[in-house]
Amino acid sequence: MESRMTDKMIGAAVRRVDGRLKVTGAAMYAADHHLSGMAYAYGVFSTIANGRVRRVDDTDAKKVPGVIGIYHHQHFSRLYRNPKTAFSPQDVANSSKVEESRLPFEDDRVHYAGQFVALVVADTFEHAREAAYRVKVEYAKEKPVANLAQSLRKMEPQATPKSFNSGNAASAFGSAPRKVDAVYVTPVETHNPMEMHATTANWNGDALHVYEATQGVVVHRNTLARIFGLPPDRVTVEAPFIGSGFGSKLWAWPHSIAASAASRLVGRPVQLVVPRMQMFTTTGHRPETQQHLKLATDTNGRLVSLQHDSINTTSFTDAYVENCGGMTQGGYSCPNMTVTHKTAQVNHGTPTSMRAPGAAPGLFALESAIDEMALVNGIDPLEFRRKNFAETDESEKLPWSSNHLREAYDQAAKKFGWEKRNPNIGSMRDGSETIGYGVAACSWDAMRTPAEARVSLRNDGSAHVTCAVQDIGTGTYTVAAQTVASLTGIPPERIVVRLGDSSFPSGPVSGGSWATASVMPAIAQATRHALDQLKTLAVAEGGSFQGAKQEELTVGNGTLKHGARALTFAQILQAQRTASAEGQGHTMPEQAGKLSFRSFGVHFVEVRWDPGISHLRVARVVSAIDVGRVVNRTTASNQVEGAIVMGIGMALFEATEYDERSGLPVNNNYAEYMVPVHADQPQIDVILLDHPDYKFNEFGVRGIGEIGITGLAAAVANAVYHATGKRIRNLPITNDKLM
Ligand code: MOS
Repeated sequence: MESRMTDKMIGAAVRRVDGRLKVTGAAMYAADHHLSGMAYAYGVFSTIANGRVRRVDDTDAKKVPGVIGIYHHQHFSRLYRNPKTAFSPQDVANSSKVEESRLPFEDDRVHYAGQFVALVVADTFEHAREAAYRVKVEYAKEKPVANLAQSLRKMEPQATPKSFNSGNAASAFGSAPRKVDAVYVTPVETHNPMEMHATTANWNGDALHVYEATQGVVVHRNTLARIFGLPPDRVTVEAPFIGSGFGSKLWAWPHSIAASAASRLVGRPVQLVVPRMQMFTTTGHRPETQQHLKLATDTNGRLVSLQHDSINTTSFTDAYVENCGGMTQGGYSCPNMTVTHKTAQVNHGTPTSMRAPGAAPGLFALESAIDEMALVNGIDPLEFRRKNFAETDESEKLPWSSNHLREAYDQAAKKFGWEKRNPNIGSMRDGSETIGYGVAACSWDAMRTPAEARVSLRNDGSAHVTCAVQDIGTGTYTVAAQTVASLTGIPPERIVVRLGDSSFPSGPVSGGSWATASVMPAIAQATRHALDQLKTLAVAEGGSFQGAKQEELTVGNGTLKHGARALTFAQILQAQRTASAEGQGHTMPEQAGKLSFRSFGVHFVEVRWDPGISHLRVARVVSAIDVGRVVNRTTASNQVEGAIVMGIGMALFEATEYDERSGLPVNNNYAEYMVPVHADQPQIDVILLDHPDYKFNEFGVRGIGEIGITGLAAAVANAVYHATGKRIRNLPITNDKLM
C-alpha cells in the first residue's frame, strides 16, 4: 500500500490553474484553429424526419463563389463502420465508440430531421453556409414516428438485457397492504453546452490530425482510426479545452467523421462547426422515458416490493438504453425487486448520455414514488427514507465501500430547517405564496478506469504533467496540479499541466464522474517514480547527496532533504547536468467485486407557488453530498451547484418538443428551449461531507460531476405536491400543470 496523502494541498480551494487562459481568450477551442489553406464545411440537414433522399440538386449552390465540393450519399468517401463491441471502459486505450453506427452519407435513408444529407465545402464559412442553403434536396417522405406515444401505438418496445430481479416482486406487491402504482414520464432533453460541436481536420499524407470538441481524445482517435481504416498511431485528436459537453461530446458524431472525410477529399484542412439548431438533432440527447413504478410496504412502512419498468426512446439505427433503474437497484432495502428496461424506436437521432444518464430521469421517478409511498404510510418522507436505508448494496450483495447517506440526511435537514415543515398540504404560506418543502435522495455510481500519466521534474524548478484526459470545465487541470503539488511541495503555479492530446499517455473519457478518481492515482504514481529517479541521481556519484541512502531522503517544498540539508530539485538535477527526472504512471481500478462503490446525497427544496399569478419557483435548495474526499472545495462546490441548476431546468423548464405530424423538433434553439436563467436561481447551500473512501483509491476520492442533478427534480415535484396537492408525474412541471 502506497503512503496516503496528508498534504493540505488536497482539499484546498485552489484556484483554477487554467482560469487565466480562459478569461483572457488565450485558451484555444476546436473551432479557434484556422489553419493555413483551410476550407470550411457546412451541412445540409434533412427537413423531413423519415424517408429517403430522392435527388440532391446542387446547381444553384455551385454558383456561390468559393465552393470547392458538394458531397452526399452518391458522392462521398469510403468509410468503415465502428463495431459496437469495440468499447470497454476498462480498456479505454484501445476502445472506440459511436452512438450512431450508420456512417454519414452511407445511403439515401433519412432517419431523423436534422440528419446530414449533404455537405458543402468552400473557401470561407460564409460561402459554405450560403451554398448549403441553396442545395435543393428532394425527398420521398414517409410518416414519421415523432414520440414515444406514437411508437408504442405502432410497435412493441424492444426488451434489453439491462434488468435485475430479486425475490418475487409481483407476488409481494399483490399481497402487500400499502401500495403505490404510478407512471412517470420525462421528455427528451438536449444538452446545451456553450461551445458548439466542432471539428478542425487536417491530413498529412495518410495521417489525420483533428482538433475536436470531445470529452475523450483517446477514444475519439481510436474511433476515427477505425472509420478511416488506419492504425491508431496515424490519428491525433486534440481537445485541450472544451466549452463543456454534459455527455454530448463523449463519442464521435457524424460531423466529426464528415469533416475528416471532406478534408481528405479536398486535400486541405477543413473545419466544420455544428450549427446550434443541429445540436438538437445530430449530437445526441436524453431520450424520452416512461417509467412504471410499483412500490409496496408492510404496515410498518418497510418496503416489501419495488418494481421499476422503464421504456426509453431510441433511434431507428441504434438501441440506446437509458439506465433508469440503475440507481433503484441497491437504492433502498427491499427483499423483492425487479428492474427492466425497454427501448422504443422513434425518428430522432440516436440518444446519448446526458449528465447522470439513467439516474437523472430514474431518480425523478423513484424518489417521487418514494414520496408517494411515505404519504400512503402517513410517515414523514425523510423518516421513510431512513427507515428503508440500505445498509448494504442488496442488488450486488456487497457492502458499500463507504456510505454516509444518513449523515447527509441529518446535516442537510438541519441546515434546511426540515423540522419546521407542517406536513399538511398547502398549509405553509408567506404573503401571496404557498410554500412547499420537498426532499429526495440522490445517488451515482463511483467508477474508475485505467489511466496513464507522465510527470517530469525539471531543472528550472517546474514540474510538467501530461495525460490524455480532458478538462471539460470541471477542474481537471487544477486537480492534476494539486496532485503533483501534494507529493512534491512544488506550488501549483510552477506545475505545467498538459491534457487533451491523444498522443499523451492514455487517460479516461471525461464522463461518468470518473476522471478525477481515475487520473489522480496515475499522476501520483508518475510523480513518485520521478521522485525516485531524482533520489537516485542525488545519491549517485557526483550527486548532491552522494553516498547517502535513498530512503534517508525526504521530500518537501520542492526540495530533497537529508538531515538538516535541503536542496531544490533544480539544484540536484543541475549537479548531475540532467534536464529532468521522469516518471510514468499506469494505474488500474482496485477491489472489483468485493465492495460496492457509490456516492450518495440528499436535496431539500423549498418551492413557492403563487396561485394569483400562476407562478412556480424554486426558492431554496440545501444539498448534502457524500462523494468521498473532496479534492478542491471550489471546483467541487461548483460542480454540485451547476448540477442543481441543471436539475431545476429538468424539473421546471427543459423539454425538446417534436411536431406530432412532421416529427420536426420545434424549439431547437436557445430562445425556445427553456433553461433556468439568473432570475430562476434559488439560494443554494452545498454541504460536502468529505469522508475519504480509501478503499476506492489512495486519495479516497470518488467523483462529483453528475450526482448533483440526480433526485433534484423529484425533490422539486415533492415540494410542489406539498404546496399544491398536485402530484406532477410528467416533467417539466410547467405552471399550466398546476392551474
Ligand atoms: Mo457524462 S453524461 O458521463 O459526460
